Amino acid sequence: MQIPEPLRAALDEEAGRFPLRDLAAAADALSRSYRDAPASPHRPFTPLEALAYALTRMPATYAAARFVFSKTPAQPRVLLDLGAGAGAIAWAAAAQWPGLERIVCLERDPEMAALARTLLRRASFPVPFEFLTADAAALLPLAPCDIAVFSYSLGEFPAPRRAPAVEAAFRAAQQSVIVLEPGSQAGFAVLRDARSTLIGQGALIAAPCPHSGACPMPPGDWCHFAARLERGALLRRLKTSQLSYEDEKFSYTVATRHAPTPGQAVVIRRPVQHPGLIELSLCTPDGLAEARIRKRDPLWRAARHASWGSHWPS
Ligand SMILES: C[S@@+](CC[C@H](N)C(=O)[O-])C[C@H]1O[C@@H](n2cnc3c(N)ncnc32)[C@H](O)[C@@H]1O
Repeated sequence: MQIPEPLRAALDEEAGRFPLRDLAAAADALSRSYRDAPASPHRPFTPLEALAYALTRMPATYAAARFVFSKTPAQPRVLLDLGAGAGAIAWAAAAQWPGLERIVCLERDPEMAALARTLLRRASFPVPFEFLTADAAALLPLAPCDIAVFSYSLGEFPAPRRAPAVEAAFRAAQQSVIVLEPGSQAGFAVLRDARSTLIGQGALIAAPCPHSGACPMPPGDWCHFAARLERGALLRRLKTSQLSYEDEKFSYTVATRHAPTPGQAVVIRRPVQHPGLIELSLCTPDGLAEARIRKRDPLWRAARHASWGSHWPS
């Protein structure tokens, strides 16, 4: 998966404003602070930090969002992005849903919002948008929309404000609320609470879970998926790595008003292939399960095509 070419060109042009070593140092410091203290109190981004964030994180967020949107049974006209950062969700939504008529982004940080607007305008973003500098947690009730998205942002809301924000998003959204968080134990904890809140509001879980009951994941483990993104030349230089791709790990939930729960098992880890044997870790409507499919099994062909995040059998 690659970000759209107009976005890549706009990012490259912005990157020309700063020495590469400054961008690399800022990206490294940001990545360490997200890893060490993901929910630490907000300190405003400098222009250098906002750009370093966008350069290193937008491709990964874009890839994860395209994966999640492909599992979302919806035809949105209006999308609300809560904690929009540099606008990766707007780009992914425009690519996924050509019928989009309007995107409204709320971002509390003025430098990040300014960068997002610059990128959207410079790259002639194809969907009408409003990009507002605002605290989404303080703006309740939220304006009506078809889909509301929290992408890597809910975990940054103060803990007591997460459930009210998720409830407000579900009240505002005619079709779905999507929550996407890092594929880590901490990210999954935020996600699991949001999932419970949404179910408490009457939502049905359309993906990834095959049911809208309690999550069966045991303590210490976490449900997550992966999306592969191509690393462009600039990203390789910023990460001082020659690897041409990376795998973005994320946890997510798609909560809907109308879609029935699919009820089909989901592959929740990368399938393990042995000679003549494929092992699948599954979440089923009845809980977690392991499937061992041998070459003689009628499901062998399906097992060879199973992938992390796909339905089983597909
Ligand atoms: C990790 S970034 C993710 C940005 C973007 N959603 C993405 O996925 O690329 C989290 C963003 O959420 C914003 N944010 C956190 N809490 C917020 C709030 N209460 N209201 C608006 N924005 C918020 C932060 O300023 C930051 O830009």
